[in-house]
Amino acid sequence: MRLKNSVVLITGASSGIGEATALAFARKGARLALCARRVARLQAVAKRCREAGSPRVTTKRVDVGRRVEARGFIAAALRDFERVDVLVNNAGLGWAGPLLEMPEEKARELVEVNILGLLWASQAALEPMLAAGAGVIINVSSIAGVRAAPYSALYSATKHAVTGLSHALRGELSGSGVKVCAVYPAVTTSEFFTVSGGREVGPVYSAEWVANLIVRTARFPRRDAMVFPFRLAHFAEPFLGGLIDHAVGELRRKAEPDVSR
Ligand SMILES: NC(=O)c1ccc[n+]([C@@H]2O[C@H](COP(=O)([O-])OP(=O)(O)OC[C@H]3O[C@@H](n4cnc5c(N)ncnc54)[C@H](OP(=O)(O)O)[C@@H]3O)[C@@H](O)[C@H]2O)c1
Repeated sequence: MRLKNSVVLITGASSGIGEATALAFARKGARLALCARRVARLQAVAKRCREAGSPRVTTKRVDVGRRVEARGFIAAALRDFERVDVLVNNAGLGWAGPLLEMPEEKARELVEVNILGLLWASQAALEPMLAAGAGVIINVSSIAGVRAAPYSALYSATKHAVTGLSHALRGELSGSGVKVCAVYPAVTTSEFFTVSGGREVGPVYSAEWVANLIVRTARFPRRDAMVFPFRLAHFAEPFLGGLIDHAVGELRRKAEPDVSR
């Protein structure tokens, strides 16, 4: 896909990976529709995107977990730009801690934002994409959508759902001209860990690194994209297993009283 003047919609563009992705598309000359809940932050990102080369950027305050708002975001973008070329379903959040202690409200928020928000936006974007016989939906899953992480059980479950939904929908749309890809970031510098209460373990990637991967996926939507280089992807499972076991060991040592004394 040629990105210059293409219309790219990004959810959760007020910080982290979404913000970096908006800027990366702006540098390619794409027109942008951005949404999130923090409007002032979103507008600051939009200003930087214009300065970076985007011919037009719109912003909208949206809680993607609310179906009517998620659909309203796509409808507004369609009104403003008259087409939708790329939808990046990036909005998401985590929660770290023992599953037994997870508050109901947080559990509902994770499911509503990470899974349902992505579903509402995708359904709305698919209508114009199918009518045009072209388009790319990029779903930001996670390495936790490949290898579940203890103490992030529901987050892992939501990201496995994103992975499954992406693969199923890709098959469902085969031959339609619309492509669906998942992207699997590993630990990335953003506000994610402030929100989730977790902490960064293992190699940390920059949001710009992930953003460039998302832009490349939009240009060549042939397959999913791992933050790990493709040739290392099949090593990722045992590598991640080691990292997770190490992190879990540390968390347990902190949580349990020191019995050696
Ligand atoms: N950082 C990592 O290590 C990592 C690794 C793998 C995958 N990911 C995934 O990457 C995506 C982006 O996260 P990030 O790391 O960039 O974290 P982040 O800096 O916290 O960004 C999360 C974005 O999602 C938006 N958001 C959250 N709830 C929303 C809602 N209800 N409606 C609309 N927007 C909402 C936030 O905006 P507002 O608060 O303004 O609404 C923000 O723009 C998430 O899907 C996350 O699961 C992150």
